[in-house]
Amino acid sequence: MADRTIWRFNKRPEGSNLDSSFALANEEIPALNQGEILIRNHYIGMDAGTRNWLKAREDGFAPPLPLGAAMVGILIGTIEASEHPDYHAGQLVRAWGQWSNYSIVIPEEATVHVLNQDIDDIRHYLGLLGPTGLTAFFGVTDVGKAKKGETFVVSAAGGATGSVAGQIARIIGCKTIGIAGTQEKLDWIVSDLGFDHGINYKTENVEDQLRKTCPEGIDVYFDNVAGPILDAVLANIAVHGRVALSGMMENYNKEEPVPGPYQFDMLLMRRATITGFLSRDFFPRMEESDTQIRTWIDQNLISMRFDETEGIENAPTVYKNLFEGKNIGKSIIKI
Ligand SMILES: NC(=O)c1ccc[n+]([C@@H]2O[C@H](COP(=O)([O-])OP(=O)(O)OC[C@H]3O[C@@H](n4cnc5c(N)ncnc54)[C@H](OP(=O)(O)O)[C@@H]3O)[C@@H](O)[C@H]2O)c1
Repeated sequence: MADRTIWRFNKRPEGSNLDSSFALANEEIPALNQGEILIRNHYIGMDAGTRNWLKAREDGFAPPLPLGAAMVGILIGTIEASEHPDYHAGQLVRAWGQWSNYSIVIPEEATVHVLNQDIDDIRHYLGLLGPTGLTAFFGVTDVGKAKKGETFVVSAAGGATGSVAGQIARIIGCKTIGIAGTQEKLDWIVSDLGFDHGINYKTENVEDQLRKTCPEGIDVYFDNVAGPILDAVLANIAVHGRVALSGMMENYNKEEPVPGPYQFDMLLMRRATITGFLSRDFFPRMEESDTQIRTWIDQNLISMRFDETEGIENAPTVYKNLFEGKNIGKSIIKI
């Protein structure tokens, strides 16, 4: 068998020290066991939420990734060999696999999805027609229950999940405000994606800017970051407002307990709702989001920007960039 280049998880990161957590290895591809498939990876999504798996905590939404294991990511690839009766060589699939040029997975454990390649740019199976589209779609419509005429705010708005969530809210007919950390991201979401306003959380007072741009109050907040930005939103939440809690970028690299949000009592004052959600809850309904998003793509209403880097050797650096805000749109590695 040929060799593969693979990133192994060797050390639990402390804070933002992600660089030394992974080690690149050259390994012979092992023979497949019964029930396994070998995938030649084409693209691997860099997903900030996987940071949770690098922690030692046992009470997270997934068990800690064991030391020595290959780093995991959602990828698009072609099956090279199969020892599973339901899969065969040549099929294009999306799966949870390894940061490598080849992945070996057990389909029942890796959420393998056979793709019928009915779209020109297969990267969209990681983006709009993949986990990003799914999270954004159900986070906005099902969890946030955004309705036409309402005011919608999203954080990490220049990233993958946030940029799509904001577009979906705009299509539904919400007034849409995005919060991000660079002027370039704000220019993009307002000029190209049609957000009504952008707020730079690094240079502006978010609470004041939200008060100015949302005097009627915020009906739906799609929260990708938690921390002080959640406080700024809660101070401006509308009566019966909803917070769809997607992720916590502000907290992922923290070792110590995190303070606040100090404005938590506003949930009571405004009878607002905060609901955590995981995209996996919506996997069974993926056809619903896919069908709707495909219609919006055909109508030129929604788009996905890819932040693509070539070479598996760059995976840890590109992954770290997510936590430093250096990506715009969906960060992926091309193999
Ligand atoms: N619930 C689910 O099932 C689910 C599924 C997918 C993703 N998510 C969540 O969605 C969020 C975004 O993930 P993604 O993979 O789409 O990554 P992404 O948004 O493409 O990249 C992460 C972005 O977060 C911003 N950020 C980093 N640290 C921050 C901080 N301390 N405060 C504010 N913003 C910060 C950075 O942009 P700036 O320049 O703006 O700082 C960065 O570009 C994550 O919280 C993730 O866990 C949840």
